[in-house]
Amino acid sequence: MRRDFIITLIVVPALIFGFGYFYPFVLWSLVVVVPLSLVGLYDFFQVKHSIRRNFPLIGHLRYFFELIRPEINQYFVESNTDGAPFSREERSIVYQRAKRSMDTLPFGTQKDVYETGYEWVNHSLHPKHVDPDSLRITIGGPQCKKPYSASILNISAMSFGALSKNAVMSLNKGAKIGNFSHNTGEGGLTNYHRQGGDVVWQIGTGYFGCRTPEGTFCPDQFKEKANSDHVKMIEIKLSQGAKPGHGGILPAAKITPEIAEIRNVPMGQDVLSPPAHSTFSTPEGLLEFVQTLRDLTGGKPIGFKLCIGKRREFIAICKAIISTGIYPDFIVVDGGEGGTGAAPLEFSNHIGTPLIPALVFVHNVLLGFGIRDKIRVISSGKVTSGFDIVKQICIGADACNSARAMMMALGCIQALRCNNNTCPVGVTTQNPILVAGLVVSDKKVRVANYHKETVNSVAEIIGTMGIERTEDLRQWHIMKRTAPNEVKHYGEIYEYLHEGDLLKDENLPATFERAYKAAVADTFEHIEDISGRH
Ligand SMILES: Cc1cc2nc3c(=O)[nH]c(=O)nc-3n(C[C@H](O)[C@H](O)[C@H](O)COP(=O)(O)O)c2cc1C
Repeated sequence: MRRDFIITLIVVPALIFGFGYFYPFVLWSLVVVVPLSLVGLYDFFQVKHSIRRNFPLIGHLRYFFELIRPEINQYFVESNTDGAPFSREERSIVYQRAKRSMDTLPFGTQKDVYETGYEWVNHSLHPKHVDPDSLRITIGGPQCKKPYSASILNISAMSFGALSKNAVMSLNKGAKIGNFSHNTGEGGLTNYHRQGGDVVWQIGTGYFGCRTPEGTFCPDQFKEKANSDHVKMIEIKLSQGAKPGHGGILPAAKITPEIAEIRNVPMGQDVLSPPAHSTFSTPEGLLEFVQTLRDLTGGKPIGFKLCIGKRREFIAICKAIISTGIYPDFIVVDGGEGGTGAAPLEFSNHIGTPLIPALVFVHNVLLGFGIRDKIRVISSGKVTSGFDIVKQICIGADACNSARAMMMALGCIQALRCNNNTCPVGVTTQNPILVAGLVVSDKKVRVANYHKETVNSVAEIIGTMGIERTEDLRQWHIMKRTAPNEVKHYGEIYEYLHEGDLLKDENLPATFERAYKAAVADTFEHIEDISGRH
């Protein structure tokens, strides 16, 4: 059959050529037929793709349909409540709020409210009016000299490089309009981030923008940039939910003069982002680094971001907080379900604790050590709606960060092409033609609109619950159907500790005892015998 097809590819143009002798207009069809025949012949002789060798020409249909599969799924297959990672309903609420178009639902919920996993909050017969502008929190513990008044919803870390320059500028200008903060991601602080919005400068293991030629942390470069006015806080990145513990390589071919300048890296050679920091390797070392950055910034809030892995390691950090007396101002907890520009499948699918148990754990450990009131907890994990924020605050956060919903506010259609430079809406590509499609003056307003409408929704939801401040939200406010005939609140689903529970050497909560005893402040290593160590 394969051979017959190839004969056809040769015979058809030859026949057309023959007919052309009698009917010259037929020759026009060669414009189409000859290139198709050549492609078919190439397919037949090439050795890389079996499907094209066996089905020359028509084998290309497979690649075409693979290419438009996400769109076909979205437009023709998925329902309002499925679609991954974000359902159509979740995406639509972001688009509608970003465009300030109608964001109400006709005819009632499409969710199955009797299905296991369904969640809700109970309203009060004594609802309150809550001013959305009052929903801000102060970040800055006892050792911070320049506390920051933060929104309860901010833009999560995404680097220039992962995002286009127009995307970064739109986010920053949106943050300026709406008075919320914009995290640079680990790729460094660029002029695209200096559009007037509040900036959180993220310092990853590559120390981009503050690194020595050897790739270690450079205090002088850090000090100069961190002290500029628009940098409000510094975030040390320990790990990220989508690929915890995975470093990265920026290939030489992708290093443009602009990127080389922003990141302080040489042109023409690969640049490594190692899995771990070179500045410290112990829990106490991390806290000392926090103090170094605090001193270099004159007292701006310093925190770190992590995805929870081994429980004892986070407990070790808390022991180190106690032993050094150095308090981070905030901790960002990223769920294993977090997004990324590109990550190995196994890391995204199977490594790192999902947000909800991680958040409960971090809140519990800080409370157990009696330091929860000194450190703000910020969560990131698939926030799209006001309910998502209310839920994460009930469970243990003080505020939330969002990456992918902010991308949707910029026009992201979940085409799932962040890793191949072909993002059709110009958000995660460096292709200038595609980037030009993202118009900053329009998208900055959408980012600000999405933020404002979502915070308004939080104000309405907590008002309906009869609560005036997000600080008063608790784990028992979120209800969940755990079986067809069983409903529990989060305080019943998860164990919550009391203040100081981890400070007593006797009667430690049983579920924390092993991890607590294996954790020490001066190493991340596992220590079985802890006698004589703190
Ligand atoms: C395109 C993209 C780039 C990202 N880059 C970074 C980064 O540089 N540093 C980081 O800590 N997290 C990074 N993240 C993770 C997000 O900051 C966030 O923690 C995660 O996506 C969870 O939030 P979300 O569910 O709202 O997207 C990135 C995410 C995306 C989608």
